[in-house]
Amino acid sequence: MYPELEKEIATYERRTPKSAEAHKKNLKRIPLGVASNYRAYDPYPIFVKDAGGSKFRDLDGNEYIDHNLTFGALMAGHCHPAVMKAAEKRLSTGTMFGMPHDMEWELAEEVCTRFPVEMCRFGNSGTEVTMHAVRMARAATGRDKILKFEGAYHGLHDAALVSVKPHAPEFGDINAPTSVPGGLGVPKASIDNVTIATFNDLNSVEHRFKQFSGQIAAIILEPILMNVGLCMPEPGFLQGLRDIADKNGALLIFDEVKTGAKLGWAGASEYFGVKPDMICLAKSIGGGLPLAAFGASRAVMDLISQHKVFHGGTYNTNPVSMAAGLATFRHVLTRENYAHVDKLSKKLTEGYRKIVAKTGIQGYIASAGANGALMLFPKEIRNYRDWTTIDTDLWRYYWFAMVNRGVMAQPYWWDEQWTISVQHTDADIDKHLAAFDDVAPTLAKVQQERVGKEPVMAGH
Ligand SMILES: Cc1ncc(COP(=O)(O)O)c(C=O)c1O
Repeated sequence: MYPELEKEIATYERRTPKSAEAHKKNLKRIPLGVASNYRAYDPYPIFVKDAGGSKFRDLDGNEYIDHNLTFGALMAGHCHPAVMKAAEKRLSTGTMFGMPHDMEWELAEEVCTRFPVEMCRFGNSGTEVTMHAVRMARAATGRDKILKFEGAYHGLHDAALVSVKPHAPEFGDINAPTSVPGGLGVPKASIDNVTIATFNDLNSVEHRFKQFSGQIAAIILEPILMNVGLCMPEPGFLQGLRDIADKNGALLIFDEVKTGAKLGWAGASEYFGVKPDMICLAKSIGGGLPLAAFGASRAVMDLISQHKVFHGGTYNTNPVSMAAGLATFRHVLTRENYAHVDKLSKKLTEGYRKIVAKTGIQGYIASAGANGALMLFPKEIRNYRDWTTIDTDLWRYYWFAMVNRGVMAQPYWWDEQWTISVQHTDADIDKHLAAFDDVAPTLAKVQQERVGKEPVMAGH
């Protein structure tokens, strides 16, 4: 560690003693002291007391402008009044039935009107719906293999937990990356059924379809790779995938767990003009409650109607989440709110760009819809391997220094990005930019001093 980072971490520790204490207690009973590995980082994570609108407070009473927003799941912001009103009303009329009710067709209509699918089923998390989408694709094609991209995250089931954060010695050929399990416990048989290609590289995809001719059920991808900061698809890449999938009788699955609600009114297919066969939605569609959906054409979804593919779940369409989802579609994810967020996003992005240029930071700002990120790379990254060259200790200075100035600029971890909610204001963006203006000169200086030092291998 270098002195500037040490100083920011010491300030962090001085400001957040109650979080340190709470983490110690958690550690006794909960591995890593957190409920999801993504929440664990050194020296300890901030523990939250409460939140509202665009802000949250930690246990010590420090207030932060929140651009973490639950890893991008809160385009609504905290406790959006319309969502709260709808959910609260439902809390006293039965929180779950395990039987159908009349909000289901309403929300299905909302989903099918907005996204290019004819039918959908609901679930509770992104992991769940990408798992079901993969199974549906396998059933629809009678094939077992799935093609995913190196570095892409689609949740925690066996088919998804492959080559999420592989390390350089395991990479293999960039045209045919090795399938690397994302931890122990993923069966070899599962890994063998997940073939990996390189994002923004159609040749690597073609290569896989030749190598496994007639065996690949689907290409699954995030239309914008968001597990590496923010990596845009190059022009023609998504259409190229569409064409390859069609040519080979495979399905194209857009994992829009993040992009679905945050890129724009109708997600990535509208934004990029490419239509997938299946779509997975979660996170921000629930407005703060657990809600997810997967959808496709009637022909594909009929596999469920015909009892060929099994789908179920005790908590599916619980009325509290459904009420929150309906309020979110109708009162949060509106054209007016997208215009508001776009305006703030432009202001934040342009503000960052000016400060980056002024201070000489080697980096750029990637931005799309409600999301953006300070990318500490000399040139734009195209794929996961480019991203692994990030100087993670430099990034840590940025994050801790911003947090110490009352701005959680994004979730902890250098593979994440900021989210702007519909409840953020011009004043929030001004404060965010003022904090970055204060932090940037030291960031630039440290970066220059660290040039030539070995980059630290990125990963959790
Ligand atoms: C693109 C993508 N897919 C799937 C998931 C998994 O969602 P969940 O954490 O709700 O299981 C995530 C979560 O970060 C995600 O970003």
